[in-house]
Amino acid sequence: MAAKLIEISALGKSFAAPGGARHQALAGIELSVGAGEFVSILGPSGCGKSTLLYMIGGFVAASEGQIRVDGERVTGPSPDRGPVFQEFALFPWKTVLQNVMYGLRVQKVPREEARQRAMDLLDLVHLAAYADFYPKQLSGGMRQRVAIARTLAYRPRILLMDEPFGALDAHTRTRLQHELLGIWERDRKTVLFVTHGVDEAVFLSDRIVLMHGGPGGIEEIVDVDLPRPRVRADLIANRRYQELVLHLEHRLESMQAGVGS
Ligand SMILES: Nc1ncnc2c1ncn2[C@@H]1O[C@H](COP(=O)(O)OP(=O)(O)O)[C@@H](O)[C@H]1O
Ligand SMILES: [Mg+2]
Repeated sequence: MAAKLIEISALGKSFAAPGGARHQALAGIELSVGAGEFVSILGPSGCGKSTLLYMIGGFVAASEGQIRVDGERVTGPSPDRGPVFQEFALFPWKTVLQNVMYGLRVQKVPREEARQRAMDLLDLVHLAAYADFYPKQLSGGMRQRVAIARTLAYRPRILLMDEPFGALDAHTRTRLQHELLGIWERDRKTVLFVTHGVDEAVFLSDRIVLMHGGPGGIEEIVDVDLPRPRVRADLIANRRYQELVLHLEHRLESMQAGVGS
């Protein structure tokens, strides 16, 4: 069998804890992700979703095991793995266009080409008319679309998204979910999408990695066998969609009930 784009084996992470102890945040993670797959990581708060994503991004070093991307061991960040994290704020002193151009200029893309690529991406996220605005003049949803465009500008093969729509209102979140699926269907990037929203995970994903805490590990991997393209309003009445949502909600609930604190 051909190697998958991302191969994670025996991955673990521990942090220093008070009193010189170690806190085991993740242990024994085994996961393969194929090129072009949309995989969500779902689990209770504190189970290690962000830590796993940061390790794949190369922002946090593994304590045990390894991650390979295209056969190469991950030892640090790469423009091939583009983060869209909530806390990755835009530069407030740069315009929308300058924010999207920034990474391209750092990569020495000539100014005119960088400008054109950035404008094309702003068009894609429906923000071309806001190119000269500053981030503080935009809504939360618009800012997150700028952040997505800024990451897409690098042309990463893999998008790493950590609850990117978590802070948005339900209507804006649904819109951005549709936009993200549109981008993904066009470019077939590999997406790893962290969320604690069951319906969001089922709507977006090919597979859902359900995690448990204490220490963090994979509880179950669920195949989302729903046809595409998916329309949110149609899915709500879809029997299989309902089964998947119910199954995951039950699993999450029983995990939370099992946490004694
Ligand atoms: N930099 C850090 N230092 C110490 N502990 C950390 C650090 N980052 C995360 N942790 C711990 O690792 C565990 C998983 O955290 P995190 O990955 O943020 O979970 P999630 O994203 O699923 O909510 C938590 O117990 C958290 O306290
Ligand atoms: Mg997190």
